[in-house]
Amino acid sequence: MKTPFVSKEQVDLITEQFSTPFHLYDEKGIRETARAVNAAFSWNEGFKEYFAVKATPNPTILKILKEEGCGVDCATDVELMMSHKVGFSASEISFTSNDTRPEEFVYAREIGATINLDAYEDIAFLEKTCGLPDKLSLRFNPGGVFALGTDIMDHPEESKFGMTKEQLFKGYKELAEKGVTSLGLHAFLASNTVTNDYYPTLASQLFELAVELKNELGISLDFINLSGGIGVDYTPENRQNDITTIGQGVHEQFDKILVPNGLGHISIYTELGRYMLAPHGHLITKVLHRKETYRTYIGLDACAVNLLRPAMYDAYHHITNLTNPNGKLETVDVVGSLCENNDKFAKNRELPEARIGDTLVIHDTGAHGFSMGYNYNGRLRSAEILLQEDGTARMIRRAETPEDYFNTLYGFDFDK
Ligand SMILES: Cc1ncc(COP(=O)(O)O)c(C=O)c1O
Repeated sequence: MKTPFVSKEQVDLITEQFSTPFHLYDEKGIRETARAVNAAFSWNEGFKEYFAVKATPNPTILKILKEEGCGVDCATDVELMMSHKVGFSASEISFTSNDTRPEEFVYAREIGATINLDAYEDIAFLEKTCGLPDKLSLRFNPGGVFALGTDIMDHPEESKFGMTKEQLFKGYKELAEKGVTSLGLHAFLASNTVTNDYYPTLASQLFELAVELKNELGISLDFINLSGGIGVDYTPENRQNDITTIGQGVHEQFDKILVPNGLGHISIYTELGRYMLAPHGHLITKVLHRKETYRTYIGLDACAVNLLRPAMYDAYHHITNLTNPNGKLETVDVVGSLCENNDKFAKNRELPEARIGDTLVIHDTGAHGFSMGYNYNGRLRSAEILLQEDGTARMIRRAETPEDYFNTLYGFDFDK
């Protein structure tokens, strides 16, 4: 079963202070996960987790992760700007973009972020735009399907990201000839994996590639980035990844493949988002309406602008009724207010009776939750609140106001 990380009494106090809906983050849980990830890879001297900013782009969260020794991976110049402002140093920032605008590469170079190139063609583009830095990484796409045993995990052949093996080798050769001294390899081949085998399997493939590169071209990589993809179980079955086992699995492959080939110096990087943050966020929302037609609808004060995953991916997010946990079970659709029929947090879900005014917790919203928000129907993004280690709550982003929404319109046939 899934249980919230806050009690009803705590949430009652917090909702007296801040109006719903809002995302609530658990500082204690975030720190514990960061420490567990760092411990699991402590066997590797150069290990660093570059938190995927896109998952939870909030300065307070980033600062907590920085205190725990993490860096950040950014996808755009705006994420780079936030990370730079938060105080991450050059070596703590990586930049994994695609279809990148020239000014974004210029800015990444300016702040010294480690650039991870998505395309072979990007090498020439980067060189022409702002020259090549000393340290660069290339993103690999092996094509075909990515499978663990007989389980197909994803279809890299259909993915727009990364470059082929041939392009990769050509790219490293050119970069080495042009004087790039520190080279890395990156791949993200499956998303939200709940198995301890994903990273070790991916690692073994990338390690083999590193050995081949050394043998064929005499190029020794400095770092290998396993990227994101370690998932969480959103369902109440609550199958868990064991990060210690995952770290050990990668360690075994490292000792088996890299060390005997003289590549034991390679640093391992990760770029986790979901695993770091998803379970440590709740969307706290109240029941506004009940409606009976062909189904029973529970209307919330939150909608898909606060959490897009159910509408976009038909993703399951567990829901707990904090106010009436032992209510009579009923089968309902839990919906938001958008003029879109996919604005449903749950369909035909059996839940304890949700009465008007009840407080609900939507689980596992700490990553790719708030950050995927948008403004359809003029709905506004919510606040983000941090449940601090001492049990008190602190706002770490205010809710948008109509003025925020109107701000880009003033002066365009629209007056203050
Ligand atoms: C380049 C890159 N790195 C890391 C991540 C984080 O992935 P996850 O949240 O699945 O760990 C993503 C997610 O989209 C990504 O695109």
